[in-house]
Amino acid sequence: MKPRATESHELHFGYFFPSGKTNFLYSDEAARRAPEMTKDNLLALAQAAEAVGFDSLFIADNWSGHQRAAELAGHQSPAFHAPMLAMALFAATQHIGVISTFHTTHHKPAHIARMGATLDAFSEGRWGWNVVTGFSADEAALFGESFIEHDERYRMAAEFVDIVTALWTEHEPIDVEGKYYRARGRIKLPRPSQDPYPYLVSAGASPAGTDFASRYCDQLVALGNTVDVVSDTGHRLSDLTAQSGRDVGLCPFSMAIIREGEGEAEELYHRLLETLNVEATKEIAADVLGSIESSRAMYDKMGEEQATRAFGGAGSMLNFIGTAEQVTEQLLEVKSATDASTVLINFPLWSPDELKTFSPVLDHLREAGVWTPPESRDYSW
Ligand SMILES: Cc1cc2nc3c(=O)[nH]c(=O)nc-3n(C[C@H](O)[C@H](O)[C@H](O)COP(=O)(O)O)c2cc1C
Repeated sequence: MKPRATESHELHFGYFFPSGKTNFLYSDEAARRAPEMTKDNLLALAQAAEAVGFDSLFIADNWSGHQRAAELAGHQSPAFHAPMLAMALFAATQHIGVISTFHTTHHKPAHIARMGATLDAFSEGRWGWNVVTGFSADEAALFGESFIEHDERYRMAAEFVDIVTALWTEHEPIDVEGKYYRARGRIKLPRPSQDPYPYLVSAGASPAGTDFASRYCDQLVALGNTVDVVSDTGHRLSDLTAQSGRDVGLCPFSMAIIREGEGEAEELYHRLLETLNVEATKEIAADVLGSIESSRAMYDKMGEEQATRAFGGAGSMLNFIGTAEQVTEQLLEVKSATDASTVLINFPLWSPDELKTFSPVLDHLREAGVWTPPESRDYSW
């Protein structure tokens, strides 16, 4: 197990692992072209991401399946349960990190403490937890619960993570009588391999969400469709970490289409937009835009139809579209304008070959002195 990075001026890359045949670009052509979500295809994809030079795989997860048009067409569906998929990916890879999503709301701290310890110890320190509170009332209903108010979910998450980290690190039994959770005792071995405990990630964008990330996490995934939006989040995060004293990396979320010929990637992107599945996008947008302030804010000035199309065309995140040289320039601009330490990338036409289109970008970044292959570094994450 390698120690965490302390000071790194390099860029790192997370691969947004498919949690459905399409993610964030709800094109029927993309769904048709994507491989089936089978064991062989997903393991080959994880191995390709490792060989190309990604630092980590990020697996998103939600519970409830109420989006029927999306489900039917393969948009954000089907999705394997993230922590279970993570275990399989560890078995098929050597050094890449796997960040899997697990909800705080709806569960108990001992569940995640035990599961996370197993994932981290089994992988010898390669596991990260994307801590989410759940943004959907349907999900709460699935667990027979009412939907808890937004900021209270983060207060619950803070108490939840405090207990989980105590269960990971304390060798004597703990005795916690919190406002939301109680836990007495200790979990059995193994404990996590990472020191002091596994890598914690959050994508909270609200004041309560970024405050939570600044106090509990190692990385904040930032949603923003321009460098300025991401940079604003970075500034808010720096103000908060100045108070918390925690080192939290900024990780913009993005989509990439890279093709060799000038204009080819743009042409492909526009072709995918032509087959946007509007019904599926509306369902997903209603879920997300209905519940997430920061996403809704990006579409405030648009009518419903325009907002749906923008959302379904990966309009909430940075878009890296072009030749390898052009995408390299775009990434260097993001790095200098936002001080991002990691960039999380979704490839709408995912496959091992699609991931290989990123290799020349990494070669250029290496020449520019901002990237080295993860396996050659003496630090992780
Ligand atoms: C890249 C990314 C991935 C996310 N993955 C999940 C997920 O898998 N499950 C989930 O419930 N929420 C997920 N979210 C939502 C966040 O956890 C959070 O609810 C959202 O960003 C809004 O933050 P806020 O509630 O602080 O405004 C994700 C957000 C982003 C930007």
